[in-house]
Amino acid sequence: MRTAARDSGGRDPGGAAAVVRPFAPRDLERAAAFGERARAEDESVEPFSQALAALVRGPRALLPLWRVAEGEDGTLSGVAFAALREQAIDSSGAAATSGRGRTSAELYVAVLPSRRRRGLGRALIAPALEWAKGQAGDGQVPVALRARVRDAPAAAGGQRFLRALGFRPVSAQLSLTWAGRPPPIRPEAPLALRLLDARDLAFAADLGRLANDAWAGAPDVFETPADDLSLALAEPGRLVLLARFGDEAAGYLSAVRRGSALAIEEVAVLPGMRRRGVGRALVERALSDARPASALLAVDEANRAARALYGSLGFVRSDRRLVFEWTLGDARPMLLVREARAEDDASIGELLVDGYVTAYARKMPHVVVDEARKSDLRAVAEKRRIATVLVAELDGRVIGTVALFKPGAPTNEAWLPGAADLRHLAVEPALQGRGYSKALLDEAERIARGWGVPAICLHVRRGNEGVARLYRSRGYVRDPRGDLDYPTVSLAAYALRF
Ligand SMILES: CC(C)(COP(=O)(O)OP(=O)(O)OC[C@H]1O[C@@H](n2cnc3c(N)ncnc32)[C@H](O)[C@@H]1OP(=O)(O)O)[C@@H](O)C(=O)NCCC(=O)NCCS
Repeated sequence: MRTAARDSGGRDPGGAAAVVRPFAPRDLERAAAFGERARAEDESVEPFSQALAALVRGPRALLPLWRVAEGEDGTLSGVAFAALREQAIDSSGAAATSGRGRTSAELYVAVLPSRRRRGLGRALIAPALEWAKGQAGDGQVPVALRARVRDAPAAAGGQRFLRALGFRPVSAQLSLTWAGRPPPIRPEAPLALRLLDARDLAFAADLGRLANDAWAGAPDVFETPADDLSLALAEPGRLVLLARFGDEAAGYLSAVRRGSALAIEEVAVLPGMRRRGVGRALVERALSDARPASALLAVDEANRAARALYGSLGFVRSDRRLVFEWTLGDARPMLLVREARAEDDASIGELLVDGYVTAYARKMPHVVVDEARKSDLRAVAEKRRIATVLVAELDGRVIGTVALFKPGAPTNEAWLPGAADLRHLAVEPALQGRGYSKALLDEAERIARGWGVPAICLHVRRGNEGVARLYRSRGYVRDPRGDLDYPTVSLAAYALRF
């Protein structure tokens, strides 16, 4: 199908109308040249030329969806390309309806600045949207298309374009750079790191399996999907490290040298092997082996564990991108509200501290969350002993929490006889405003009803109008009899009566 996007306003007198047509392998060089030119004219265009060359050979490229916009003189004025990220396990929809899978693809589109606002962008990605609708069938299989755009004023046009086409921001991705000295390598007794090279292709199958497991539920966007590793190993400048813990494969790192820089594309540690220094050892080893002048990688803003690791190795944030999604069917990541377990304690503590610090910094800048308060928020194991602590888990990651104290439980601050006390509600700052606190409160209230209590009592910091409004909208009513005035904080009381 050929889609002509006509030059409507004559804003580019030298340019003839461009025609959008499928990408052909012979377009690769011109597409790369287009990428360089577009980027020279607009810094918000991603440096995709190299990625394109690797992608086009890989098994994930959705080549039938790739498009170029070509002028009559044969020069390209736009490119769109897509790569498969996840495939629903069962295309009949059986898996999807039981919540186990979805289909998603990464999408990128760029148009030369002088050719924008003529429908080219829309025409270039139309086949990807059509494909997604086809994949979704009758809506049984959830489908998502993802696109990333810089979070910078220069990229506002790209963001508006995506919004206009029905994409919504779902998360943020940070680019981190490192320009330090190779870190000293700490010997880890049972940990063995092995540098793989092109002669090690026999490992590739192993790595592929490892990668699939390690990536299950990982929020990071990755450029080189795991099953490309056998291809990647043969690529010049590629560095792949495999970590073994005792006799078992524990994780791997895949990076590529770009001039004097090292681009770390994937660091994955199997879930059962985390918190043992494997990730740190992999990154340290990559930096000391490759001895790059600088290194870069991308991480989901919400991936606290990875950010802490990279921060401790001297990586600093250099850029932020918004991740947009266009979805069909119920393609939202799965949200699960459940009781917290011991292994959640650390995440819950950090979530509460982050949530409170960020919320107050934004809405009540005069409020300082002091160290005593922070250690109170981090004392999750103690809290679990005396209260029901819930977490909201999104794609396997804890993103929200709330606690509910039974009547008579130590520290229960309810003033109504026999009432439960609700405390410590927090949702990860980047994910606020999407109804996740509602899911947590729904579950807490369901549990309280099950206890047979007559009411739930809670306290809101005086002046925190946003949170107070949230509770009022759920039927909580102000009850000054329960107000608490401490030397450092004054709390307004609300109660929900059953
Ligand atoms: C995003 C980009 C590809 C859009 O290309 P384009 O050819 O100008 O897009 P279209 O003309 O098809 O625009 C379709 C709709 O998007 C919206 N839109 C596009 N650019 C916009 C802008 N700068 N401001 C507001 N709305 C915009 C409009 O609603 C437009 O429809 P309309 O012209 O009928 O109002 C182009 O701006 C670009 O190359 N930006 C840099 C790369 C990038 O950010 N890509 C997005 C990440 S995938």
